[in-house]
Amino acid sequence: MNVCIVGAGYVGLSTAVGFAEHGHRIACIDIDQKRINDINSGICPIFEPGMEEALKRSIGKGLLKATPDLKAAIASSDVIFISVPTPCDENGKMNTRFIDRASKDIASLLDGYKVIVVKSTVLPGATETIVKGNLEATGKIYGRDFGLCMNPEFLREGHALEDFLKPDRIVIGSSDKKAGDVVEKLYNGFSAPILRTGIKTAEMIKYASNSFLATKITFANEMGNICKLLGIDVYKVMEGVGMDRRINPHFLRAGCGFGGSCFVKDVSALLNKGRELGHEPRLLDAVLKVNAEQRKRMVHQLKARTELKGRRIAVLGLAFNPDTDDVRESAAIDTVQGLLEHGASVVVYDPKAMDNFRRLFPNLIYSESAKEALKDADACIIATDWDEFRKLDSKDFSGMKGNIIIEGRRTLDKSKVPHVDGVCW
Ligand code: UDX
Ligand code: UDX
Repeated sequence: MNVCIVGAGYVGLSTAVGFAEHGHRIACIDIDQKRINDINSGICPIFEPGMEEALKRSIGKGLLKATPDLKAAIASSDVIFISVPTPCDENGKMNTRFIDRASKDIASLLDGYKVIVVKSTVLPGATETIVKGNLEATGKIYGRDFGLCMNPEFLREGHALEDFLKPDRIVIGSSDKKAGDVVEKLYNGFSAPILRTGIKTAEMIKYASNSFLATKITFANEMGNICKLLGIDVYKVMEGVGMDRRINPHFLRAGCGFGGSCFVKDVSALLNKGRELGHEPRLLDAVLKVNAEQRKRMVHQLKARTELKGRRIAVLGLAFNPDTDDVRESAAIDTVQGLLEHGASVVVYDPKAMDNFRRLFPNLIYSESAKEALKDADACIIATDWDEFRKLDSKDFSGMKGNIIIEGRRTLDKSKVPHVDGVCW
């Protein structure tokens, strides 16, 4: 099938490359001309394992191109995906300006029946009020001139392509069978169960899933904080807990709190929506509060052990997840902020995320390797569980001046680095 994808970010590009792997022809639209040029040259604008190779493969087969020409892309497509960002405002509310703009642009260029699919995460009701509303405002008739679906994404950064190609489930929300069937056909050949729902239900499934995962992590963190006081290893506890099929072992890794572009944004948006409707979502509120505290914990822990003013502190890991260069809502941000507020001199290293972090904190000391960052450091904090850090042993830390090592993710091998102190283990 011919597919147009508006917004070539993490989600749009993973969707584009993933569908091209299944033989569909894809046109990626983006407002960023450099991104378009990079994609067409086979350069992946984001770091995701396997993505650049797959991108090159799709381009080589003539199945994928990026273009600023929305009109031509729409004309040659059966299905149009919208995957522009839906960020959070200062007050935690979902901001719909990009989706509003994208759907207005599509509406003004639509020629003949096409299925519009919202992939962006939007609150229940938004697909119908904003996207359908904008299409109808140009005189297009629903069901005759366009079909409408909501097809949420469940992609973890660092595993985005793998999650796209091997999903646990595919959710297709539609209010007319014809449009839903078109999207279902696109996923022919995927070996995952397909759940057909209404549009609002599909929108809510995304928020409920992310809220549940964020709650699960927060629960593990709370258990970890108590376990640490009791001298119990929360990882062993969660291994035992996760063996219960009703719970399952995933997303129970305690640590320095969840980050990333989705969990905080989506839980905040749902919390606000609940309040708007007259319901106080106490659980969601607690999840966000506990998580915000958790992200500051490593600095408190370090402060309790040493003076920070004038000290050189190494922070290893800046990305919010390993295998990504994305630093949005990363625990490293709170950590570095806290260290600077206490007057520390901060030296950092990350295998992939240094350029993105430098935009937020241009004045830190950026090192070329973990070993270089550790040299003469009074203490070290590990904020991302990159594989590269798992291999570190006491020799690698021997250049440090002090001997405090705090890890926010279970990363180091305690048999090789005995004096490591976990954030909640
Ligand atoms: C996505 C979703 O769409 C969001 O709703 C979901 O909750 C998280 O994942 P993501 O892919 O992470 O967002 O966004 P990002 O990586 O920031 O990329 C967005 C892309 O859209 C960028 O390339 C940007 O240039 C482009 N864009 C943005 C447009 O093409 N048009 C716009 O109007 C705005
Ligand atoms: C998330 C969802 O998992 C995905 O389905 C989609 O909806 C987008 O949002 P993402 O934020 O990219 O994906 O990555 P994820 O792997 O979920 O990690 C998010 C954060 O949670 C990271 O900071 C990670 O370190 C943390 N995490 C994850 C934990 O602290 N413990 C865990 O057990 C798992």
